[in-house]
Amino acid sequence: MAMWWRRMTSFRTLSAITGYIGVIHLVMTLFKNEDTNRYHLDVITCRPANFQIVSVESKNVSEEKIILLWTAFYRDLYFGLGKFGREPFIERRCEARNCFLTNDRSMLDKASAVVIHNRHHWRQSADRTIFGNRSNANQLFVYVSMESPGYTYLSRALPESCQMMFNVTMTYRLDSDVPIPYGYVAKRSANKSRDDYDVRNESAIERGRLANKTRSVAWLVSHSDTISRRETYVRVMSRFIDIDVYGKRGNQTCKHWRTDRCMAMIAQTYKFYLSFENSICRDYVTEKYYRTLNYDLIPIVYGGANYVALGPPGSYLDVYDFRSPRALARYLRYLAANQSAYLEYFRWKFDYEVVYFDSTAAAVANGFCRLCYLVNTDYRKTYDNICEWWHNGTCGQTIFDTI
Ligand SMILES: *[C@@H]1O[C@H](CO)[C@@H](O)[C@H](O)[C@H]1NC(C)=O
Ligand SMILES: *[C@@H]1O[C@H](CO)[C@@H](O)[C@H](O)[C@H]1NC(C)=O
Ligand SMILES: *[C@@H]1O[C@H](CO)[C@@H](O)[C@H](O)[C@H]1NC(C)=O
Ligand SMILES: *[C@@H]1O[C@H](CO)[C@@H](O)[C@H](O)[C@H]1NC(C)=O
Ligand SMILES: *[C@@H]1O[C@H](CO)[C@@H](O)[C@H](O)[C@H]1NC(C)=O
Ligand SMILES: *[C@@H]1O[C@H](CO)[C@@H](O)[C@H](O)[C@H]1NC(C)=O
Ligand SMILES: *[C@@H]1O[C@H](CO)[C@@H](O)[C@H](O)[C@H]1NC(C)=O
Ligand SMILES: *[C@@H]1O[C@H](CO)[C@@H](O)[C@H](O)[C@H]1NC(C)=O
Ligand SMILES: *[C@@H]1O[C@H](CO)[C@@H](O)[C@H](O)[C@H]1NC(C)=O
Repeated sequence: MAMWWRRMTSFRTLSAITGYIGVIHLVMTLFKNEDTNRYHLDVITCRPANFQIVSVESKNVSEEKIILLWTAFYRDLYFGLGKFGREPFIERRCEARNCFLTNDRSMLDKASAVVIHNRHHWRQSADRTIFGNRSNANQLFVYVSMESPGYTYLSRALPESCQMMFNVTMTYRLDSDVPIPYGYVAKRSANKSRDDYDVRNESAIERGRLANKTRSVAWLVSHSDTISRRETYVRVMSRFIDIDVYGKRGNQTCKHWRTDRCMAMIAQTYKFYLSFENSICRDYVTEKYYRTLNYDLIPIVYGGANYVALGPPGSYLDVYDFRSPRALARYLRYLAANQSAYLEYFRWKFDYEVVYFDSTAAAVANGFCRLCYLVNTDYRKTYDNICEWWHNGTCGQTIFDTI
């Protein structure tokens, strides 16, 4: 307790927070309203509905298109695709399957697309030769990111990469040329809805949902000291409601906490889960949210995405909708005590299902069908300044910053 009290002195009193959160909420609402379309994403290609489809048939698909992975994706040489060659596109049953995946840099001149992970470390000078001398204007240089702008390095490490380099963005942002969100929510097909969720079984399903939930709020976290300062919010909130923290710095232990087994235990035992992102950035919503929705848990979200457009109504709680951590805690106590009010947060499950990728690599791999598709079209685009596209105006303030 003493520890977070000391931290609290940096923003005077709790009542000060309470007052300002209202103002920030207003700002956040404006920020979020930029983009009110609900995106319908195709399962295989992850294609937003508004993407113009150009017929692949009109092109010569027997001609092989080389996709060169100039960097690795973190330590994964294959960007989640598991192997090089044509198989990744065939196995995934992409619409366009004539692509050949490689990381052989001698193929640079022949490549149709050159893929660059913005979080690469750029320590080796050979890595950097890609910037500044492109020989072939028909190639698509692809900018990949699954981390929020605050946690990516390219613009700082190599400012020369910012201008007139990239043609295609492949990031979690929904306005990317190849959007690769961590997950999405889709309407159930009529058949599936009947099979899985027979309305006659509704009360049995609901009883099961609550059967073993003896505890209130859980949080599974690996990093503290984040840009969003989610840890501060949790510290304050824990004054008003019990929060069990799992993970490296948690006060609870969970064997294999990086696996789904820990999440499954949490979903059985807890009523609420903190889906708090490490940064407050446009569209930045990770598996912390989608995975939680997929379990029988109510996610409490803190992030910069337009959650209203992403999730079905009545499926989550947003910290920005509450005056203070205390008000949120009070509402959670109310829900925990009122079964029927609590269960209303799961009604959406009769009509919607969650698709999410259990790793960042799986999410990024999902974009390659679309990329293969693009290299078969006459897609042309130039980002005059990719760093501005990525950084300028894309991240909002945390819930504390203006205090
Ligand atoms: C299509 O591509 C293949 C392989 O590059 C080539 O042999 C063939 O002549 C091309 N066909 C047309 C119609 O351009
Ligand atoms: C870029 O140009 C320099 C100088 O001509 C050359 O040494 C280097 O190999 C080139 N890099 C690539 C990736 O082609
Ligand atoms: C890719 O971008 C570069 C500059 O950033 C531009 O010169 C080139 O024409 C673009 N290529 C395509 C296929 O859009
Ligand atoms: C749904 O059910 C109908 C009739 O039983 C069937 O013809 C159709 O293929 C099913 N659709 C899916 C997506 O399973
Ligand atoms: C729903 O009920 C039917 C019969 O009433 C049963 O056969 C079926 O297994 C139940 N489904 C679930 C998901 O419990
Ligand atoms: C509740 O716990 C019991 C005992 O561990 C277990 O058998 C049962 O499957 C659990 N129910 C649910 C819905 O998780
Ligand atoms: C730590 O554990 C205790 C006991 O389970 C709990 O009441 C408390 O809320 C936890 N969380 C924090 C952040 O101290
Ligand atoms: C419990 O929740 C239900 C449904 O939201 C509501 O109608 C009822 O008034 C609540 N009960 C109490 C005691 O608040
Ligand atoms: C950031 O975007 C704003 C609004 O679009 C613009 O006025 C400003 O010049 C941009 N800043 C930089 C550094 O490019």
